[in-house]
Amino acid sequence: MSVDAAREVIRRCRLLAACSDEPEFTTRTFLSDSMRKVHGMMGVWMTAAGMDVRVDPAGNLRGVYAGAARDARRLLVGSHLDTVPHAGAFDGVLGVVIGLSLVEALHGRRLPYSIEVIGFSDEEGVRFGVPFIGSRALVGELDASLLAVQDADDVSVAQAIRNFKLDPSRMADARADANPLGYLEFHIEQGPLLASADCPLAVVDRINGRTAADVTFVGTAGHAGTTPMTSRRDAIAGAAEWIACVEALARGAKGLVATNGRIDAEPGAANVIAGRCRVTLDVRHADDSIRTAAVQRLRLAAEEISARRRLQVEWSPRLDQPAAAMDPQLVAVLARALEASGAPKTVMSSGAGHDAMVLAPYMPAAMLFIRTPGGISHHPDESVDERDVAFALATGTNFLNELAASIGV
Ligand code: GLV
Ligand code: MN
Ligand code: MN
Repeated sequence: MSVDAAREVIRRCRLLAACSDEPEFTTRTFLSDSMRKVHGMMGVWMTAAGMDVRVDPAGNLRGVYAGAARDARRLLVGSHLDTVPHAGAFDGVLGVVIGLSLVEALHGRRLPYSIEVIGFSDEEGVRFGVPFIGSRALVGELDASLLAVQDADDVSVAQAIRNFKLDPSRMADARADANPLGYLEFHIEQGPLLASADCPLAVVDRINGRTAADVTFVGTAGHAGTTPMTSRRDAIAGAAEWIACVEALARGAKGLVATNGRIDAEPGAANVIAGRCRVTLDVRHADDSIRTAAVQRLRLAAEEISARRRLQVEWSPRLDQPAAAMDPQLVAVLARALEASGAPKTVMSSGAGHDAMVLAPYMPAAMLFIRTPGGISHHPDESVDERDVAFALATGTNFLNELAASIGV
């Protein structure tokens, strides 16, 4: 695989980053107009590479490159096309563009399996506060309760799908092909480990589990100048005390990370005591029992703080995604493919969540991480090195070839 192909991958990712819900930044949420533009551009490239392209009822972009035989089994290669607010150009998109590039590099050669390149419509969960909408549709987990979840404008997932001119009642059409060979995801590491070890790539063996919830403290709004401190029921002050607990708990437990990424207070004026304060919670650990015990402690802490401050607390679960092991056989193929590319073999677990963790309980899944310079991700300065992408493309080609050899033509 040439550096030219890697350069083209990076050029395309940067072109797609210009498709954004807001000027100046890359922000692309579930089934927004900018997602339609991305589908258009990717669709043209996929079609030119000889793929049959469609958008499934969950808004996932899917391109199938047929195998040598009509009944060939299918290898899925994918990642997500949505982004966080003010994102970089590579989180998610890189994996989809690499999948396309691997198909292009076949130059029409047919393998004993077909390849389906998938651009998931939502992994970040920004619009609905619930991540993995795209990959959940593939495994049949996009059910009525998830379709009913509403965004900040009270638009449900089902309505957003209809607004995008898709039909949520046909969600079964989004299911993955029966008996796939497996799922392969290329993704930037999004952390500093590969950069500090001076390694371009790593095979992922495991993805940490994650809990997400919205926690709302409810008090009484009132006048900031006249209400004595002793009689206040200040929702922001209660939330602040709890947020300090969240950070202290995570700092005190090895491997535990906990984040309050967003606070919304109402009514939201400098001279009004807050009557409501909603805080997002995100907790992760490699060990599910440590994660769930930590979440339970945080729930008790929220209740204790609320009782003492005469507040109410509402706890709305958003996600409880167990840690996921990657498939040992596919991991072994990927590790050999990586070594054959000439890059040093590194294996690591993932602190970030990925579509692969949703698919892993249903099919063999494997992931390859690409070094993230400076560990900078979820930030406009996110980048990748051309040579690292060239190594990833070589690894991908080696992987496809070894899989082909193991099946036989
Ligand atoms: C995905 O970006 C995650 O939140 O891990
Ligand atoms: Mn992300
Ligand atoms: Mn991602």
